[in-house]
Amino acid sequence: MENRYGSFSGTADAFWYDTEGKLIQAHGGQVQKFVINGREKWYWIGEDKTYGYRPCSGIRMYSSDDLYNWKDEGIVLRTMGSVDEFEDEYFKILYGTLSLEEKEAIFTDLDKNNCVIERPKMLYNEKTGKYVVWFHADGRFPGCSGDYDKAKAGVAVSDSPKGPFRLLGSYKLNYHNDPNGEYGFDGWEKRGSVRDLNLFLDRDKTAYVIYSSEGNRTTFISKLNEEYTNLAADRDKAVEGKDFTRNFIGEFREAHAMFFYRDKYYLMNSGCTAWSPNPARYAVADHPLGPWTEMGNPCIEEGRETTYGTQSTCIIVVDEEKGICIYMGDRWREEDLGKSGYVWLPLVFGPKYGMALKKEENWSYE
Ligand code: DGJ
Repeated sequence: MENRYGSFSGTADAFWYDTEGKLIQAHGGQVQKFVINGREKWYWIGEDKTYGYRPCSGIRMYSSDDLYNWKDEGIVLRTMGSVDEFEDEYFKILYGTLSLEEKEAIFTDLDKNNCVIERPKMLYNEKTGKYVVWFHADGRFPGCSGDYDKAKAGVAVSDSPKGPFRLLGSYKLNYHNDPNGEYGFDGWEKRGSVRDLNLFLDRDKTAYVIYSSEGNRTTFISKLNEEYTNLAADRDKAVEGKDFTRNFIGEFREAHAMFFYRDKYYLMNSGCTAWSPNPARYAVADHPLGPWTEMGNPCIEEGRETTYGTQSTCIIVVDEEKGICIYMGDRWREEDLGKSGYVWLPLVFGPKYGMALKKEENWSYE
């Protein structure tokens, strides 16, 4: 089946097929523009849920000239069935020089029958020429039977947005340095936990990771190092307020999406209700680390209590001058996650940084 699209189905949430007629598999994703060899294209990275929740097949990439029609570029971060697969050519090239112990650590994060790989996001680092992917790395391993107990950030690099990405590792991130503090269900022992995450690249090329931590109670924003492969400051020496900030403390936010538009930073996110939608909220700031001024629910039409049945994953600033911004939302279908929908909607801006998410069906951005 060949499809040519000239509009987004929006809240009508029709199945969205790639240029070969296969259902697009890029959930919890992100879209951005890269110019490679003089050729400008949009790139969409997301969770491949072809087999539902598990086996977890990894991270998939699509490319497009117009944001409507997407070419499948394949799985860019591959998972594996057993450590024996390190002998396969594909994995040998990526991980061949690692020790057995290091391979076992990589396997924990890439074990398709036990891992969780969610909300992958990518940055291009101009200095190193590498593409860097961050994702919520979770799942089971011997001694841990919960799907969301590991709570780390996975980081992978590649020379191309089309991969193959090599996983560097998975990490706990910043934490509030007070053993008597409030760490939610993670507790002090699991300080630095990471669940829903996103990335933001500022105009000065400083990058940030935004993530739910402290048992999802608090939204952390942390500065990344120059390579975008880790935190800017050693997490045991990091200074709260300078290297990272804690935001919306005790508000249980996730599905973070940060962007810069005209003269402000915006951060949209959702509440924490597993796969069920809930009201979105947004905040504005003069710096990616905040402080953030809460602005409320951006949805203005019927269905605003569930963000029109969606959860945020990315906001694409298509054309700042013309005021074209697209909200990318996931409409999760828990019973059949691979058929979860992509609801893309127009974001409009009013005076005083007011932002509204409109409910549209079959709409075009031009
Ligand atoms: C909500 C998160 O936003 C998703 O990425 C996923 O982790 C689900 N929770 C799991 O219940």
